[in-house]
Amino acid sequence: MAGITVRSVRLADVGPDGEAFLDAAEHSRAAGIRDSAARREFLAGRIALRDFAAVVLGVQPSDLTAASACPDCGSGPEIDHGRPGYLLAGAPTGVFLSLSRSRGWALLAAGSGAAVGVDLEHMSGVGFAGFDDVVLTPGERELLAAVPPEQAPSWRASAWARKEALLKAHGTGLRTDPATVEAFADFPDSTRLMDLDPAELGLPPEFAAALAVLGGT
Ligand SMILES: CC(C)(COP(=O)(O)OP(=O)(O)OC[C@H]1O[C@@H](n2cnc3c(N)ncnc32)[C@H](O)[C@@H]1OP(=O)(O)O)[C@@H](O)C(=O)NCCC(=O)NCCS
Repeated sequence: MAGITVRSVRLADVGPDGEAFLDAAEHSRAAGIRDSAARREFLAGRIALRDFAAVVLGVQPSDLTAASACPDCGSGPEIDHGRPGYLLAGAPTGVFLSLSRSRGWALLAAGSGAAVGVDLEHMSGVGFAGFDDVVLTPGERELLAAVPPEQAPSWRASAWARKEALLKAHGTGLRTDPATVEAFADFPDSTRLMDLDPAELGLPPEFAAALAVLGGT
């Protein structure tokens, strides 16, 4: 797809040197994460996203200032959560970004002139009791009933990844009830929602991955 770049990163492969380029809001968010492994993965995800954005933009990681956007709290360098983004010389870059972390991996996407959302889900994370009631629409529960039991974990992971990718592209995240979002609907031409092949991205096969693109061509 023109103007869309997607990449997977193994978080353990991200060295700590890039921490020096992270901004105050990112360090402050990391400081609030008590679990050291989770903190390290958060930092690795932010380093990887910054490096990825720098490559897409043709600049150095140190040229970028993190500026996230939360529908409730606003946007800018002081915001440490919400849709990720960067300022370049104090101005928006024009490139939309999205990040997902799961089980030691990150999935990154960039869209030039088109809002993007990505999500990465491990099949073992979607089998908990109540998942179908909390996450699926009535129509999706009917679809799932026709899925062979051995394929149900992969189907659920795909449905969840598609919903989260769409909600990230819209910038709301789970402020929108996922049980109101159709993962397999026919969308208008301005909305593209697709499964990504884990093998093509270098991801282990137990993952489901999805990309949503709003606008653009
Ligand atoms: C977006 C969301 C669904 C992702 O959750 P998840 O599946 O646990 O985590 P993932 O690893 O797939 O994605 C995390 C990334 O999603 C992105 N993200 C978070 N909120 C986002 C939003 N509103 N729009 C787009 N992307 C968002 C961030 O890049 C985040 O990375 P970070 O932790 O480095 O900031 C979830 O974080 C969410 O719904 N957040 C909104 C609710 C909320 O945070 N409310 C309180 C804030 S006032």
